[in-house]
Amino acid sequence: MVEITPSILVKTKEEFLNKILAVENISERVHLDIADGIFVSNMTISGFEEVESIETNLKIDVHLMVSKPENHIIRWLETPVDSITFHIEATQKAQEIIEKAKEADRKIGIALNPETPISALANFIDQIDFVHFMTVEPGFYGGQFIESVLDKVSDFYYFYPDKPIIVDGGINPERASKAVQAGANTLVVGSYIWNSGDVGKAVEKLNRSIES
Ligand code: DX5
Ligand code: ZN
Repeated sequence: MVEITPSILVKTKEEFLNKILAVENISERVHLDIADGIFVSNMTISGFEEVESIETNLKIDVHLMVSKPENHIIRWLETPVDSITFHIEATQKAQEIIEKAKEADRKIGIALNPETPISALANFIDQIDFVHFMTVEPGFYGGQFIESVLDKVSDFYYFYPDKPIIVDGGINPERASKAVQAGANTLVVGSYIWNSGDVGKAVEKLNRSIES
């Protein structure tokens, strides 16, 4: 089954709470984007305090669009997030990050920017829980969808059919079905859902597009 995960990319705690409330009865999990103004030019909430203070049944997957994620991982492992994704372009210490997450019994994934080849994962593929493909340049809602990344997803799926694949960025119903055909198991969706005016209907539409 393919899962649609709404994304939360916000600058204030208030926006965070509003978006959590908006999806709480619609989804089982959310994707929380964290941007540090260094790895990407945007800056979001830092996230720790927001995640720790909220009471919700939602599972939270955190997507770290931050430079040197090795400096953030320990703090994130103190929070109740379900999984952590870091960018391979942002660190020389991927092995250390993976080990720390595993010691804390947490799911860990690696994200690849649109231009980063699959070969960047070579040493880590057997150790991570999923691979996260960016189909936009990271940092913002509403980035331009880069369709050629889906060829990279297909190639990866061909070689590693059992490794869960997340596709993140620019997803709408039409692109959702293409991403699933390429091999995606999870689709992260931001602006399509939030600009729809009806979050529940938007998720329904996405689900319908990937069933057909
Ligand atoms: C992009 C973030 C995405 C973003 C998706 O930098 O990593 O998770 O929230 O938003 P849309 O669907 O608008 O591209
Ligand atoms: Zn994201």
